[in-house]
Amino acid sequence: MSAPLSSVADPTTANPTTANPAAANPAAAEAPRRRPAVIELRRISKIYGVGDIEVHALKDISLDIERGDFVAIMGASGSGKSTLMNVIGCLDVATKGRYRLAGTDVGNLTDDEQATIRNRRIGFIFQSFNLIPRTTALVNVELPLVYAGVKRGERRDRAIAALERVGLGARIDHMPNQLSGGQQQRVAIARAIVTNPAIILADEPTGALDSTSTAEVLSIFEELNMERRTVVVITHEDEVAVHAKRVVRFRDGEIVSDVRQATIRGLPPNVSSPAHAVRSIA
Ligand SMILES: Nc1ncnc2c1ncn2[C@@H]1O[C@H](COP(=O)(O)OP(=O)(O)OP(=O)(O)O)[C@@H](O)[C@H]1O
Ligand SMILES: [Mg+2]
Repeated sequence: MSAPLSSVADPTTANPTTANPAAANPAAAEAPRRRPAVIELRRISKIYGVGDIEVHALKDISLDIERGDFVAIMGASGSGKSTLMNVIGCLDVATKGRYRLAGTDVGNLTDDEQATIRNRRIGFIFQSFNLIPRTTALVNVELPLVYAGVKRGERRDRAIAALERVGLGARIDHMPNQLSGGQQQRVAIARAIVTNPAIILADEPTGALDSTSTAEVLSIFEELNMERRTVVVITHEDEVAVHAKRVVRFRDGEIVSDVRQATIRGLPPNVSSPAHAVRSIA
């Protein structure tokens, strides 16, 4: 097992007394390590509509996702995957149940507070890229930093670094329609990671991509996960799910299986060494 390439800010590891419990108390070395889940869903239901046209999109779901995990969410169309992602990403609120994100009870937050926690902690990636047309890759990637109030020069530097990271340093002034689908999705990933989020949420990120672009996107996700970021990917494709450390399947708004494919602290299952995930993206 390798050390993480770098680590994301996490106040839960900042406390020196908890960083090495065995040093303070040798007995702690014997005890199993308790890692609080970064995503804690308890008995979550989501009901759309009212009366005769009620749709129970999520039915009493309980799910914990720990920091550093790489989870694929699978299931047939209409099974509730995007609804779950919207709840996890604070884009929508559950009808019932409790959701804690990094220890904060989201149900107690105002809309503004939810927007803040969303912008700080989560990077979103969607199937259709959702880039702003007629706007350069650089400006698209800078946008979350505009909302975060980051000054112009720093914004530019960070956006360029994020684009370089996904192999698009030579395309920063291209508009979305001057880029391939795979390149557009990499711009979207750069936009998602430019704020340094601890959690990446992706809804069918490779659904519109060919196999080469899919492989590039997956390799970026593996690298982000090796930095101890939590990655949650909704997908229909088994080829994508094999890259995840854990696969959770939905049917009709319920979890029907939950399979671990690799340990949380280890490498993602398709990575044989850290160098393997360092991409050769043109
Ligand atoms: N805004 C909405 N209003 C009413 N019903 C909705 C709404 N959004 C989703 N639904 C319904 O909730 C159920 C779950 O939808 P969801 O989008 O979560 O499915 P999904 O698993 O993401 O499907 P797909 O694989 O097709 O994206 C579906 O029956 C859908 O029709
Ligand atoms: Mg969906």
